[in-house]
Amino acid sequence: MIKIKLNDDKYAYEVYNVFHLFFENISFAEEEENYEILVCDDNLEIIRNNKKEKFPFDSGLTNKENIKRAIFSYLSKDIAKDIPWGTLVGIRPSKIALKLLKEGYDSEEIVKYFNYHSLTREDKAKLCIDVAKKEEKIVNRDQNTISVYIGMPFCPTRCLYCSFISDTINNCKDVIEQYLQAMCYEMDILSKYIKEKGFKIECVYFGGGTPTSITNEQFEKVMENVFKSFVFGNNIKEFTVECGRPDSISKEKLSVMKKYGVHRISINPQTMNDETLKLIGRGHDSFEVKEKFKLAREMGFNNINVDIIVGLPSEGLKQIEYTCNEILKLEPDSLTVHGMSLKRGSKLHHNVINNIAMKIAPHEELNKMYEATEKLARELKLEPYYMYRQKNMVGNMENVGYSKSNKEGIYNIQMIEERQTIIAIGANAVSKAIFLNENRVERFPNIKDVREYIKRIDEKVESKIKFLDNL
Ligand SMILES: C[S@@+](CC[C@H](N)C(=O)[O-])C[C@H]1O[C@@H](n2cnc3c(N)ncnc32)[C@H](O)[C@@H]1O
Ligand code: SF4
Repeated sequence: MIKIKLNDDKYAYEVYNVFHLFFENISFAEEEENYEILVCDDNLEIIRNNKKEKFPFDSGLTNKENIKRAIFSYLSKDIAKDIPWGTLVGIRPSKIALKLLKEGYDSEEIVKYFNYHSLTREDKAKLCIDVAKKEEKIVNRDQNTISVYIGMPFCPTRCLYCSFISDTINNCKDVIEQYLQAMCYEMDILSKYIKEKGFKIECVYFGGGTPTSITNEQFEKVMENVFKSFVFGNNIKEFTVECGRPDSISKEKLSVMKKYGVHRISINPQTMNDETLKLIGRGHDSFEVKEKFKLAREMGFNNINVDIIVGLPSEGLKQIEYTCNEILKLEPDSLTVHGMSLKRGSKLHHNVINNIAMKIAPHEELNKMYEATEKLARELKLEPYYMYRQKNMVGNMENVGYSKSNKEGIYNIQMIEERQTIIAIGANAVSKAIFLNENRVERFPNIKDVREYIKRIDEKVESKIKFLDNL
């Protein structure tokens, strides 16, 4: 445990965040501290082992930026740890690049800006610029254009690292039919509402959980409802079904998706190593990934995404290189690379805090593992088009979506940039009302618990409509 004594609580958040880049466990203490931090008017002092070091503030930076820079520079001298984002801890760093591009900065100036304000490494600043340039072309500018999200809160099995509010299909057998009815009811009402309001739908995204975890017959019925409610006659730009789990995909479900005009699907391996797949409880092997991918291609799907995770327990460089080689052969149209995030509520988090052995690669190896995924994207000729960061990500990196040109996931961009209203349907789905002129976002969460969601569907749909009426 690293103990810090700080003279001004106002800056505790910034001080904590920078220390947390270097140390796991930190606390603020009045005595027996390891570091004493004195924030003064125009400088910061760090005292350790009775030795004092002074960092004068740069007048071009805010106090918070100065404090973060000083502590980061100080700790970097002692601790050899490559932290490519520098002091930047925000979730959407590409927003900064997008704003600067709009203000007329060129790429070189933006790289300098990132370095000056947050000691961000050049390659990460460039990643933000590349993403911002792609996003600029796609990001929504029209108050009246919206997207629709539909969430299926069930999965074939529960993955070790996952904290999504989804339950296994077996645990919920008794409520699935009622859930689907409630969800279709929500779709019917909101479809009418969207028409009345004259909203234009850009994307429909059916995700979860796993939308394909229900039976072929149930899936067909739900898809018909989605199609009639939001797709038919609306000339939408993107209809995505995040099939996700290869073990939930069947030929019948793929042909239903074709019939209802799905543009984009995801078939997610997470890793191509069978031992890891078993360890994380995926319920499919790498052979099934390849088989279902091939089937989808044969059936005419020309926009398939694959998700992988860097830093899964028991994986190192060798395993990720194997995954990358296997994915290279599949030639997906897009690839989403997630850094493993230790999420509260996941079995993995529970295991880690209870010291149940879970081997996660060390920081330097994780950096190399990320590099292997960047190489894969280059070999596949995919370019980064969206990115975001999360708390508690191993290796403190980022999640990046890469795609072929014109196959960017439009919904992903709208969701991350928060410039488009999203009407979300299903248990735990969160609608977002965007007020473009005021640069304001308001959220409306649906009920998380499936049984409660079914019980209170009427009341909640009514209040969602009131919420959307503010637009
Ligand atoms: C919303 S999940 C649903 C996808 C689908 N159910 C599946 O598992 O294939 C989307 C993606 O988030 C990623 N993900 C979920 N939990 C994660 C975690 N704790 N750390 C990193 N990535 C995670 C996985 O790559 C997953 O494919
Ligand atoms: S990762 Fe996907 S399949 Fe696994 S439990 Fe989470 S939502 Fe379900």
